Amino acid sequence: MTAEFTALRQARRPQGRPTPDDFRFYEGKTPELEPGQILVANSYLSVDPYHREFMDEGGWEKGLGLEGRALGTVIESREPAFPEGTVVFHRHGWATHAVLGAEDKPRVVEAPAGVPLSTYLSLLGGTGMTAYVGLVRIARLQPGEDVFVSGAAGGVGTAVAQIARVLGARRIVGSAGSAAKVAQLTGVLGFDAAFNYRDGSPAELLARAAPEGVDVFFDNVGGDHLEAGIAALRHHGRIAWCGAVAQYDDPANPPAAPRNLYDVVHKALRLEGFLVRDHLDVREEFEAFLTPRIASGEIVPAETVVDGFENTVTAFLGMLKGENVGKMLVRL
Ligand SMILES: NC(=O)c1ccc[n+]([C@@H]2O[C@H](COP(=O)([O-])OP(=O)(O)OC[C@H]3O[C@@H](n4cnc5c(N)ncnc54)[C@H](OP(=O)(O)O)[C@@H]3O)[C@@H](O)[C@H]2O)c1
Repeated sequence: MTAEFTALRQARRPQGRPTPDDFRFYEGKTPELEPGQILVANSYLSVDPYHREFMDEGGWEKGLGLEGRALGTVIESREPAFPEGTVVFHRHGWATHAVLGAEDKPRVVEAPAGVPLSTYLSLLGGTGMTAYVGLVRIARLQPGEDVFVSGAAGGVGTAVAQIARVLGARRIVGSAGSAAKVAQLTGVLGFDAAFNYRDGSPAELLARAAPEGVDVFFDNVGGDHLEAGIAALRHHGRIAWCGAVAQYDDPANPPAAPRNLYDVVHKALRLEGFLVRDHLDVREEFEAFLTPRIASGEIVPAETVVDGFENTVTAFLGMLKGENVGKMLVRL
């Protein structure tokens, strides 16, 4: 059996903010399967800030399209471990179909009752695991401590607040790029205070939102947010530096901030960058921590879901512009 597929490829390297013209759609027929291979019809795929970095680095192609985390159903199998109907997680995401072999390490996904499948690309996927690793292994958050998270309304940011609350955080403060997002952060997403970083200097806005300072800063943004976080941290505070989304469009011109880096010494802070892929051994512990809480409804994954593979680029560009609340996903 073969299937007609549509995939995305990168057409050119963007200058600054990417546009739809940087991509092209590609159609074809999947090849006949070889022994050990499976044919998967994708049902969800993930668009992520790291794809913006791939656009400059090259080597993004994978399988029929571009690399991206995805969930799909096996529709033909020549591998007994993955019979037809099995739901799998894999990384050949930016295409309607995927042809996978053992080298692609597909993983069987069996979502328990009460846990929506999409969660395996959001709170129970790399996004939630990044939040968990940053809080537990890097910042070593303790009960009663106060937290500031930048990029708070995004996939990682919303997961940080949910996980920090369960870990016993006292006050959780977030920053995001619009008044509507700030209202959602404090209204429904569990934050105690929040500010719109477009309203002024993040350092001044944070000083108002967290006048007594914080113990942990989970930074997704970098630049002036990092400077603000350093200023707000108490003695022996910790920074889990997760990302720098403010500078992905123009990596050759990094921001001048933080200008207060020496305060890391002055306040005996610990600033540690991390990559979730260096912590894959945490998965079992992480799933045991979160799955029952999602199944019981104690934690509700925050997601923005865009329908239709043809809208993948729109979803990706929208995520970079901040059109998402929670993890941005595409449903096929
Ligand atoms: N270290 C790791 O292993 C690891 C793993 C996963 C993700 N990450 C990082 O975690 C961060 C969040 O990733 P995510 O997948 O959860 O994406 P996300 O936060 O859901 O989406 C990106 C968000 O970035 C914000 N943004 C865009 N330009 C900005 C700017 N100039 N200044 C401030 N905010 C800006 C937008 O929200 P606003 O409306 O608020 O601007 C947008 O919603 C990224 O930095 C990513 O690279 C790191």
